[in-house]
Amino acid sequence: HEPLRVALVGCGSVGASVARLLVESADDLAARAGRPLELAGIAVRRQRPRPEVPVDASLFTTDAVELVSRPEVDLVVEVMGGIEPARSVVLAALKNGASVVTANKALMAEDGSTLHAAAEAAGVDLYYEAAVAGAIPILRPLRESLVGDRVQRVLGIVNGTTNFILSKMSESGAGFAEALDEATELGYAEADPTADVEGFDAAAKAAILASLAFHTRVPLGAVHREGITEVTAADVASARAMGRVVKLLAIAERVDGGVSVRVHPAMIPAAHPLASVHDAFNAVFVQADAAGELMFYGRGAGGDPTASAVLGDLVAAARHRVGGVNGPGESAYADLPVRPMGET
Ligand code: HSE
Repeated sequence: HEPLRVALVGCGSVGASVARLLVESADDLAARAGRPLELAGIAVRRQRPRPEVPVDASLFTTDAVELVSRPEVDLVVEVMGGIEPARSVVLAALKNGASVVTANKALMAEDGSTLHAAAEAAGVDLYYEAAVAGAIPILRPLRESLVGDRVQRVLGIVNGTTNFILSKMSESGAGFAEALDEATELGYAEADPTADVEGFDAAAKAAILASLAFHTRVPLGAVHREGITEVTAADVASARAMGRVVKLLAIAERVDGGVSVRVHPAMIPAAHPLASVHDAFNAVFVQADAAGELMFYGRGAGGDPTASAVLGDLVAAARHRVGGVNGPGESAYADLPVRPMGET
């Protein structure tokens, strides 16, 4: 079979994991997608040796727009982050007729409607499962599995850094600054943790979740945002004394015929399923009319967990190109032996 050609834009921790897994899992991915997925190139900001990425050095380029505009490119993965040049690169890819998979929450929250319109005009897919809560499958469930239901409310712990900080404050009685230092030391918080601790990262994710849950465009500017920098050790201790825990929540709910979307620290009862989401984990709690309560839990950040969501989208987009939404069908089932119980 002729391979599908994949351009990868960005090679930080997520990009490096995507490239490595494309190579290591090539046979499985080819079987699931119906055609082999072959790396056509990797766009990077600066050329440097990347021993963690097991591909030929000639695949690297610093010209992302040129890479995604090559006529042979079928699929583009954008994991560079930020608004520009990511937006120009994604628009160039869509214009070229490539399907796009992105992990870029800032871009999707800021300008999702432009990108969706460009994808629609080109007749290709635009997927971004990795943009919200990393490995956790939550966007496809909202967009597809729950589309026949009516979602009333989405509550999310969608920022791992702040959840780690609040967990530390709760466990050890540490103050915000001390817990932030620990998060930085362990590599959870960025050198500049503003987007995390001020709630910008969670607000972008809240806008995306709300748009999909309520089938409406929620602009980033409409999301009320408050971070955790003002939360004190005393706040956390008094919440605890009341049988509650402090979490930074992304809340999207139907109110008075409209929707309300906000991010702020909230005291939640210790018995609530979200209260037991510790450390850098993420979770999204959904209430829908017919389904009732649902909870999605897992790793919201990190190279491999985020790459898992990217590759899921990539296979979905590849299947769509190969021949319909049902993918390669029965032929994709491998004949792995089914072991009788007790045999390992
Ligand atoms: N800074 C984010 C977090 C990474 O801490 O959750 C994933 O978007």
